[in-house]
Amino acid sequence: MHDYLHQWVIRNLVLAASIGLCGFALLSDQTSAGPSSPSMSSDSGVCEKEEDCFQAAAMPKERFGKALNKEQVLLLKLDRLQRVMERFPATIWAKRAGVLSGVLLLERNPAVAIQFLRAAQRDLPVLDDYIRLWTGEALMNLGNAKQAADMFESIPQAVPDSAGIPKSVRDDMIIAPFNDAEAVDALVREHKDDLAGVIVEPFQRIIPPEPGFLAAVRKTTADNGVPLIFDEVVTGFRLAYGGAQEYYGVVPDLCTLGKVIGGGFPLAAIAGKAEIMAHFDKSKVGDENYLVQIGTLSGNPVAAAAGLATMAILKRPGAYERIHATGKELMAALDGLLRQAGIPAQISGEPPLWDVVFTDQKVRDYRGTLAGDPELMRRFNLLLRERGILKGESKYYISLAHTDDDIAFTIDAWKDAIKELKA
Ligand SMILES: Cc1ncc(COP(=O)(O)O)c(C=O)c1O
Repeated sequence: MHDYLHQWVIRNLVLAASIGLCGFALLSDQTSAGPSSPSMSSDSGVCEKEEDCFQAAAMPKERFGKALNKEQVLLLKLDRLQRVMERFPATIWAKRAGVLSGVLLLERNPAVAIQFLRAAQRDLPVLDDYIRLWTGEALMNLGNAKQAADMFESIPQAVPDSAGIPKSVRDDMIIAPFNDAEAVDALVREHKDDLAGVIVEPFQRIIPPEPGFLAAVRKTTADNGVPLIFDEVVTGFRLAYGGAQEYYGVVPDLCTLGKVIGGGFPLAAIAGKAEIMAHFDKSKVGDENYLVQIGTLSGNPVAAAAGLATMAILKRPGAYERIHATGKELMAALDGLLRQAGIPAQISGEPPLWDVVFTDQKVRDYRGTLAGDPELMRRFNLLLRERGILKGESKYYISLAHTDDDIAFTIDAWKDAIKELKA
């Protein structure tokens, strides 16, 4: 746990530096000249503008004189940050100075660190996750392991959903919250030199991307030279013939495809830009850059034939219009029935794939789905099964095979199940 935390904190320092808290590098004994000197009259800490004061606190250590040891530098920095907070209490610089002071004090005086961090948290929502981590670190230093754990748990982390996943896999990943373009941008900019790629389900389980989210992820990955990969195993050929990338109008560098592409047979594919796909071809990239992609059933002819037949059907005019119309009708019907019954619920998804979440909160990320009432969901699914609707734990998948009779049958089953749910 501690190793992991340590990595996080290092990461946080770098991230914070990248988004404007430019003082963090000072702790790392760096010897480069650093940014040009702000207008400080001397090391006495007199500065005219708040930005200059803040920058002054961020200068590398040799600007304070070679004679100072680490502890003295720390005290000087804290003193200067304190001045920023006192002189410009209502400004964003003061808030940043508060966060920076908190981070500097993590080990030395964790109780005071927490005060600084908490005071600045409300005004720096973009740093919320990081402030929670730093606060967690300070709580650990104070010996409040349980409170610290609560803090850490509130930050998105890689959590294995199955036994058998090595810790090393988790440590190789950074998790960003879905639908939070600012957080993705900050993480990508911070880690651009280490990231092999950014992988995202463009429509996450049952959560649509908010307007602009995928475009923002596309922009930051392109700007920072990091490949963008869409996991379209579920969405490919489902939301539209061209998958989520056609439906939402954002094209990744690579995508994975499965499920619909095989029409129920075991088939999957990777698709993408020619320059990346070339790595599967030794004659194009040479031995060193060749990526082996073979499997016993890869390109299985029966599955490929099933996939081609499925595509021929999906290409027929009106196929997707019909799937969307069926889905829309069912979504609206269930929404109406639950409202009438006064059961707090959100219908979340796109017409070809969606579900209900029993919560009164809007669902915008994975944690939002966890806010749903699982017991209500379990009972609802069970009641539906007893009425002839075989639904898994989650998600309604709409198919071209669904007829008007199927729609009517489903709506009747919902009516009956909701009545029972309320009884
Ligand atoms: C979004 C998503 N990606 C990947 C997979 C795994 O695909 P496969 O079963 O082809 O390994 C699944 C499986 O359900 C999935 O839902």
